[in-house]
Amino acid sequence: MPQHDVLVIGGGLAGMRAAYKAKSLGADVALLSKVYPTRSHSAAAQGGIQAAMTSEDSWETHAFDTVKGSDYLGDQDAIEILCREALDDIIELEHLGVIFNRTPEGRIDARAFGGTSYKRTCFVADQTGQVLLHVMWEQLVGLNVKSYEEWFVTHLIVEDGRCAGCVALEIPTGRLEVFRARAVVLCTGGLGQVYQPSTNGLAVTADGLALAYRAGATLMDMEMVQHHPTTLKSNGVLITEGARGEGAFLINSKGERFMEKYAPKMKDLASRDVVSRSETIEIREGRGMDGCVLLDLRHLGPEVVFKKLSQIHELARDYANVDVLKEPLPIRPGYHYLMGGVKTDVDGRTWDASGGRRWQGVEGLFAAGECANVSVHGGNRLGGNSLMDTVVYGRRSGAAAVGYARSVDWVAVNEDAYKEQERRKIKAIFDKPPGLRAADLRQEMGTAMDDGIAVFRDEESMGNALRTVRSLKEKSSSVSVHNKGHVFNTDLLSVLEMGYMLDVAEVVGVSALNRKESRGAHARTDYPERNDAEWLKHTLVSWTPEGPRLDYLPVTLTRWEPQRRTY
Ligand code: FUM
Repeated sequence: MPQHDVLVIGGGLAGMRAAYKAKSLGADVALLSKVYPTRSHSAAAQGGIQAAMTSEDSWETHAFDTVKGSDYLGDQDAIEILCREALDDIIELEHLGVIFNRTPEGRIDARAFGGTSYKRTCFVADQTGQVLLHVMWEQLVGLNVKSYEEWFVTHLIVEDGRCAGCVALEIPTGRLEVFRARAVVLCTGGLGQVYQPSTNGLAVTADGLALAYRAGATLMDMEMVQHHPTTLKSNGVLITEGARGEGAFLINSKGERFMEKYAPKMKDLASRDVVSRSETIEIREGRGMDGCVLLDLRHLGPEVVFKKLSQIHELARDYANVDVLKEPLPIRPGYHYLMGGVKTDVDGRTWDASGGRRWQGVEGLFAAGECANVSVHGGNRLGGNSLMDTVVYGRRSGAAAVGYARSVDWVAVNEDAYKEQERRKIKAIFDKPPGLRAADLRQEMGTAMDDGIAVFRDEESMGNALRTVRSLKEKSSSVSVHNKGHVFNTDLLSVLEMGYMLDVAEVVGVSALNRKESRGAHARTDYPERNDAEWLKHTLVSWTPEGPRLDYLPVTLTRWEPQRRTY
């Protein structure tokens, strides 16, 4: 049975950063990933990574913008750490080999992004995530970090209240293996495929969220799902906010720059929740075109477009048949990001290490990146803060996991029993008679979630989505697979992924229905106001045999009292 002091599950940027830190501290660390690591979804992050690098800016202003962007649901201690430590991390990334765009004077360039007081988003053209991922991967290869590629985790092992490893299936062979670890760091990304359409890759199927939830960790603020203002209607492909950062603007079918009306100061660069709501109102009130509004880049000219937005030029041409230099591009809000996630402290611990019992967790299990909720994004994430979240909190979690692993003994794990348990689970799927397919359920779930729990929502729409998810959960027990082989059985994987997504979709629905106010991305037409008196608190959800259990936890405020939020 393979064993490592620290096992990082997930090969995206948070996972690589955690593994890099753990290895730098001398730990025996391994990375285990469902896809080849450089194919992880972090590669899809286009526009940039936030850090207050310019002389007029400061980490405090970055922190305030983030608190305001979060609609005051972000924990301010975690936000302060993110923004303060971002500066050194950018320099470190640069030293590791990230070729950030430069100003003519040779300084690291930064572009404007939504909800930021200054140009603060450092970037590599419109391929920032891709470059960061490749640079970190080179570092891991250089350090000989052990990497298990194309392994799918079916179960997190918890013994005596401690996470002791996982069971995983080797996708190319179908072999089951037990991995033992003193500490496990989950970095498996969000729930992207729970929504259809989605900007997220096909591999983003809520795996880590469901694994942690089933193992006894707490999910927090799962109602906070972000719709990005500029996605392509046909397939949800992301058109970076960097386009508006470089000067593109939104127009409606009458050619009006409608954001002037909704956000007089920041206009097209208001925060994402505000812009997505404004677009939705324009479309609903009949000033859209075919369910879209238009993103106009024509005035930017070839110099800016080819130097800084070349991928956008290609995506618009290939997927929408639009030359953005000649005509405006139809776009609409589309599912993009989960602000919620596995509740952690500021070192990625999923359990309450203060000795208190403020939330339920699993000792030895850490989480970072989109699957985690250290609560730096609260009710609405600012663009560019997710990459920085993966870098800062991936590093901190990696370091804390090493510290923890060195302080504990190995837990005994019955390898054969765990293998047999998972083998039976898979056999039960293989033994199902032909019938329903996972793909049918996936589409129905995605559409129901996007209809019911999207930019605007109310009791009825959320109730409908939750009912659909629950009925799909019942049906999912009879889903069968055509392919009963062991080699690259993606048919089997899609059934297992479906189970993860339905569990997590239910948590999103329950959390959303119970928050009876509007805050950040949670915009209820039946409770249109933010209500700090009753709802300045986090939603906590834990697994019980009877279904999700709800609790609440106060938001941590350090220096910023909640104010009215305008842009
Ligand atoms: O618009 C974008 O480039 C997306 C960036 C992000 O979500 O941080």
